[in-house]
Amino acid sequence: MKHTVTRAQSAAGGLNYRVNGKLFSAAPAPGQCLRTFLRDRGVFGVKKGCDAGDCGACTVWLDGVPVHSCLMPAFRAAGREITTIEGLAGEAAQSAGTLHPIQRAFLDAQAFQCGFCAAGMIMTAAALDAKQRADLPHALKGNLCRCTGYRSIRDALSGVSAVEDDVAGRACGASLPNPFSEGIVTGRARYTMDIAVDGLLHLKVLRSPHAHARIVAINRDKTLAVPGVVEVFTWEDAPRSARRRTRITWLIRTTPMCSTMWPASLASASPRLWVKPRPPRKPVAGFSR
Ligand code: FES
Ligand code: FES
Repeated sequence: MKHTVTRAQSAAGGLNYRVNGKLFSAAPAPGQCLRTFLRDRGVFGVKKGCDAGDCGACTVWLDGVPVHSCLMPAFRAAGREITTIEGLAGEAAQSAGTLHPIQRAFLDAQAFQCGFCAAGMIMTAAALDAKQRADLPHALKGNLCRCTGYRSIRDALSGVSAVEDDVAGRACGASLPNPFSEGIVTGRARYTMDIAVDGLLHLKVLRSPHAHARIVAINRDKTLAVPGVVEVFTWEDAPRSARRRTRITWLIRTTPMCSTMWPASLASASPRLWVKPRPPRKPVAGFSR
């Protein structure tokens, strides 16, 4: 369906958008892609994977056709029907608490582990016709999953159910669903990048380039000397109580899935972790600076 841009909106640089049935006017930044445009408006079910059209984590529907939103200029989506994972089931189904059949199939087959690819995968899968379903490797070639090995995704689209009921006293050895399942298939699950921290300028997480190493010292001075760097935080900046709490949260929340989720758990357990004043440092046995 095409939507007209009113004269007032045109004058103000605003364009008409319809996202999951909701109409609004906005002016995308010059060169902005549809993915960042949607996420800037809180539509976090649209994920950032490669930002290069390879992984499909950012898949949305444009007039019912799946597209990689990282490759789509936001202004080109104006006046068209944009559907994301949050709106796939439709408003009526959502208020009734029901899922789209493909969301249900992914949930029943547990066709994800970390779930990061699931929203895009579901958006593509939900648009497949019978002929495309018969050739899934080809039909899903624009959506990559690093966790599942694709078999459970194929199972989902074949109607296989892989979950058992959680019966008290019989959980050991049973195939219980991922506790985040519903959030994953509906796009409500929040990952590190989906968390907005109050007052945050820009956060860059630096990981060790070594797969296995003991960190004996962290020197912040060179980094702090780079223009624009405001602060460098390390493990020492986490208050001891938060460190204890987040370690417990990590254990509980990540047992059934890969570590992609843990920073989200960490931040939700202690959202002020990164903005608290640095506590006085004490030497810790086994570490030198
Ligand atoms: S983020 Fe768009 S295809 Fe990977
Ligand atoms: S990337 Fe597909 S479930 Fe993790």
